[in-house]
Order: sequence, then C-alpha cells, then structure tokens
Amino acid sequence: MDTIAPDMLSPAVPRPDHVPVEAVYDFDMHLDPGLLRDPHERVRELLRVAPPVFWTPRNRGHWMVTGHLENYTLSRDPVNFTSEVMTAAQSAMFLQHLPPDFGHVPIAFPIQLDPPAHGIYRAPLQAAFSPKAILARKEKIRALANELIDAVIDQGHCDFVPAIAEPLPVKVFLEMLGLPVERLTEFRQLVTEHMAPAKSPMDFVFRSRKVADAMGETIDARRLEPKDDLISLLWQSEIDGKPMTKEMMENFGVLLFIAGLDTVINGMGFGIRHLAKNPGFQNELRANPKLIVEAAEEILRRYTFTVPVRRVAQDTELGGFALKQNDIVMIFLPGADLDAREFPNPEVFDMKRENNVHIAFGAGPHRCLGSHLARIELQVIYEQMLARLPEFRLDETKPAKFHAGNIIAIDSLTIRWD
Ligand code: HEM
Repeated sequence: MDTIAPDMLSPAVPRPDHVPVEAVYDFDMHLDPGLLRDPHERVRELLRVAPPVFWTPRNRGHWMVTGHLENYTLSRDPVNFTSEVMTAAQSAMFLQHLPPDFGHVPIAFPIQLDPPAHGIYRAPLQAAFSPKAILARKEKIRALANELIDAVIDQGHCDFVPAIAEPLPVKVFLEMLGLPVERLTEFRQLVTEHMAPAKSPMDFVFRSRKVADAMGETIDARRLEPKDDLISLLWQSEIDGKPMTKEMMENFGVLLFIAGLDTVINGMGFGIRHLAKNPGFQNELRANPKLIVEAAEEILRRYTFTVPVRRVAQDTELGGFALKQNDIVMIFLPGADLDAREFPNPEVFDMKRENNVHIAFGAGPHRCLGSHLARIELQVIYEQMLARLPEFRLDETKPAKFHAGNIIAIDSLTIRWD
C-alpha cells in the first residue's frame, strides 16, 4: 500500500513556456510512492511511461534524464551542464543569511566545480584513491567487516543497514583519513543527520559545517605532525602551485564524507537485498567466490542508486527538448542502467552480458574518484557475508524501507538465517 497520498507530494509549479506539454511527466523524486515502495521497479516503469528526458513540476520544477544515451551525453558536457548548481547570485543570497561568526562554508570541491578548475582540485586526491593504494587497504577492510559480522552472527538475524552497511564505510573513512576510531558513534550520527531529507538547501550548509568541525582538531594536528593518513597527505599537496589551506582541507574532508559514506552504505544494502532474495545465487557464489567480482558489477548496474545534479549553463537541447539557462537537470543514473536501448532485458540479472559497462559511477570529468574503494568495500562485504553466514533470506514480516532523492537509499533491511 502506498504510504504517501498525492496531496503530500511537493507542490507542483506551473509549466514554464519553454517546456512543451509532451515533455511533462509528474514525478516527485523524493516522495514518489512507487519509488519508496520498490525503487527499481518504479525506475523501470518510469522508463516505460515517460520520455527519456522529461520535465516534472515537483520540487520547484526540474528536468529528469532517465535514458542512458542522454545521461551519458550530458555527464560529459560541462560546457552546457554545469556542476555549479547554484548561480553566483543565489550563493551570495545564501551567504547573507548566515550568522556573522559562522566561519568558512565548506564547498565539496571538486564535485561542485567545472573544468579547468575541477581538474586542479581533483588532482591531489588521485594518488590516494588509485587502485594500488586501495588494494593495500583490502585486508584491513575485511577485518573491519568480520568484526561487524561477529557481533550479529549468533543472533540469527539483523537489520543489515545499521548493523553492517553503515558502520563499515564509516570505519574505513575514519581509518583512511586518520580520524580517531573512538569517534565512530559521533560520525555515525553525522551520517544519519546527513542522510535525513533536507528541508532547505541551508540545511546542507549547516550539516557541512558540522562535519568540518568534527574533523577540525585532526586537521590542525596533522598540519604540525603528519602521520600516514589522507589528511596528512593532503596537507602536503599544492593546489595550482599554492600551499594547502585549512579551508581547502575542510572542503576535501566534507567532499569525502558526502561522496564516500552514503553511497557505499546503499550499494551494500541493495546488493545484500538481491542476495537475500536469491538463495540459489548465494549458493552459486559460495561455490565459486571468484564470481563475486562480476556479481558486484552487475549488482551496481541492476540497482544503480545515485542521482547527480546539474544546472543548464546556457540554452541547449537534450532528448529533443529545448532546455533553458538555469534549468535544473537530474542525472537519473538508476534509469540509465535499466534502459533497454543500452542493456537488453535490463531487469534480468545477468553476469554474462555482452555489454556490462554500467554508469553507476557516473561518466565524464566527475566520474567517481572513489570507485576502486567502493568496489573493494562491496566485494569484501559480499565475500565475508557469504563465507561466514549460512543461506540468509529477507524477513517478510519486516519489509525493507527506502527513501529517495539524490540517492535512492535503503534505510532498513532485516535478514534472517538459521
Ligand atoms: C557504490 C558506491 C559509490 C557510487 C555509486 C558513487 C557514485 C558516484 C557518482 C555517480 C559520481 C559522479 C557525480 C557527478 O557526476 O556529479 C561520484 C563522484 C565522486 N565520488 Fe563516488 N560513488 C561511490 C563511492 C565513493 C567512495 C567510497 C568515495 C570516496 C571516499 C567516492 C568519492 C567520490 C568523489 C571524490 C567524487 C567526485 C569526483 C569529481 O567531482 O571529480 N565515491 N561518485
């Protein structure tokens, strides 16, 4: 049963003149009842009933891009589609409303920048996220995963999201950045706050400041006494030939928090849900664990869950429609990876697909910098869950809970085993 009545959706705004009637489809990306009930089933339905590029009057009115080709094209076109989602005037207006002693407003560099500045700010992070650097962390990640499994294994059931999917990437994050692991509870709380739906864009500013404050002490300490961690490494980097600053360190810290936690949590949640629904597949992977690498990729395609956003930088065209400067566009990657024009029978989970190149990690200059880390975390959790637990299944009395927006998120997933 749908839990959201139509009058609880965000108010619909009038259709602007440049949007033709045939481009309109009414869809609330935060509160659509179908999306909250069974997200990827609703994504498939959207691809059937709406054009690959459509405009929705909900959430102040914006474009939704669900087709693969259209998503790929726009992601690789920063000239027409900027990552600076707010205009300079909007940013200035926002800043005016902050208390005078608010301090630096952390900006998630480089995800909110366009080339060429984007490349300059992405460069210092590259080495830390290279396949080699991440592979070196794999066994530590496995040990963290095992600790979490140890805590639930004898009880025969758990809510996988709070028990495992959420603390694992938070622990990995603390460890990688060199933040004290004793502060796990505090950082988990920050993740929960960050994941809660925002009432206004101002919430993001306050939340980001809180995240930066939580890292402040360690950032200061590593400036004077570097250790073997990412915060120390970043202090030693230069940005465009200039030394690193505290503000820039906060920007990087907030970026990694936003980009690296919420994402992996949901990736794991959708993956374990798929396995719990398919015991035969669990057994296939238990018998041949080498297949887990391919399985993890097909899970990412089948259950893609992030929705990056862009602003139209200058009047342009996409999917046969005219888009106007400052229109907001959602890169609905979950649609792209279920588009039958790109992936035949997209609903079928098939590790042997001829084309298995998904865009769960995006495309173009902003393609996910943390994809190697994400892949290792996902593979390790599937490996350890399958190796340590007997066949596990969904608890039918406690259906999974989801929320939606720029991430399609899984909040609760109760699984059982004998
Ligand atoms: C399954 C997990 C993940 C998924 C599906 C994912 C997905 C994405 C996507 C779609 C983008 C592109 C955003 C855009 O075009 O605006 C992105 C960017 C990014 N991701 Fe991930 N991500 C994941 C995990 C991570 C992790 C673990 C980290 C690191 C801690 C990370 C760090 C980043 C960074 C730094 C960017 C910005 C890159 C840039 O702007 O150049 N991600 N991610």
